[in-house]
Amino acid sequence: MVELITTRHPVPRARVQSMKEYHPPLGSREALRLDFNENTFACSPKVREALARISAADFTRYPEREPVEALVAAHLGLSKSQVALTNGVDEAIHVLFETFLESGDELLLPVPTYTMYEVYASATEANVVTVLAADDLQFPFERLLAAITPRTKIIAIANPNSPSGSAASREQIVELARRAPHAVVMIDEAYFHFHGETVIDLLDELPNLMVARTFSKAYGLAGLRLGILAGSAELMRWVRRVLSPYSVNSLALACLPPALEDTAYLDWYVSEVLKARAGFEAALDKAGIRRWPSCANFILVDIGSRHAEFVRLMRAAGVLVRDRSSDPGCDGRVRITIGTTEQMRHAVIVLNDAVASLKAASASQGDAQ
Ligand SMILES: Cc1ncc(COP(=O)(O)O)c(C=O)c1O
Repeated sequence: MVELITTRHPVPRARVQSMKEYHPPLGSREALRLDFNENTFACSPKVREALARISAADFTRYPEREPVEALVAAHLGLSKSQVALTNGVDEAIHVLFETFLESGDELLLPVPTYTMYEVYASATEANVVTVLAADDLQFPFERLLAAITPRTKIIAIANPNSPSGSAASREQIVELARRAPHAVVMIDEAYFHFHGETVIDLLDELPNLMVARTFSKAYGLAGLRLGILAGSAELMRWVRRVLSPYSVNSLALACLPPALEDTAYLDWYVSEVLKARAGFEAALDKAGIRRWPSCANFILVDIGSRHAEFVRLMRAAGVLVRDRSSDPGCDGRVRITIGTTEQMRHAVIVLNDAVASLKAASASQGDAQ
């Protein structure tokens, strides 16, 4: 029997049709970039030197990731079967979800958290189960434990978390991994260098634990797209079936060894941010702006109902910050990346001006009523 063609256009999967489009606000960023938690300064000069050594002929070859993966594994104290390089942590999340999530499965997410977990999950057939943090935005440990079901397939935790800046403790992560042996517990340590705490040393002990790291933040290589996914050799074998062998390009691979080697540069940048963070916290307190304690290179602040106007005033004065009002439990909150001390000194001046303008506008509206 001949089958009739009844549709006149290719139709994507139902889940893809119901996905929301996600457009990060990356346009017109020629300003002080305190909006994407990037390194706000530069990458190591050693990375620039490595780039300069790349020849025209080097571009003609497909990238070979294995030798660099072995180097990264040694750097992390792991075997090379435990580590994969990815096109940013975003690819690690995408590939992990594609590897494990199928219809009826649950992705368990404490929220608010990093947006891309929900974006990639919504392209799978799994359901997203969220657990909302309390007003203090601390890691909702007890409620997360209570939300584990036999269908939980992945628990994704950014540690430290964005946009809150709060962190789960090592003990809490171990307990979660033990209570959900049937699920992958993925700890996204994108902001590890500013926090200094990791669970990557527990991979041998906890077979369902996976850890992601990025070169986009402290290392200052967001434009190169370099991430790491680490886990047991067995879990990594499944992930590698889905991962493209060529997704990390040869320029990124050439830059990674000098970035890893130049620990002096990394330490300098991290200490600069931590110093600047303390100064910025003091300035926020002085201005009477509520803030949440942060273990990362950003701070979430409460601006209230005029958050959009605040972000606009900051932008007009040359400082980009990120409105997180549409995140769950974050109405009126804005996330501000921490840069160098000098950059943050400037940001404080601009912020105080913006807050003064908002107050003046509120006062004159009050007068008019
Ligand atoms: C928690 C978290 N994970 C991952 C990323 C993205 O990392 P990458 O640039 O390596 O894709 C971000 C970026 O903001 C993040 O906040």
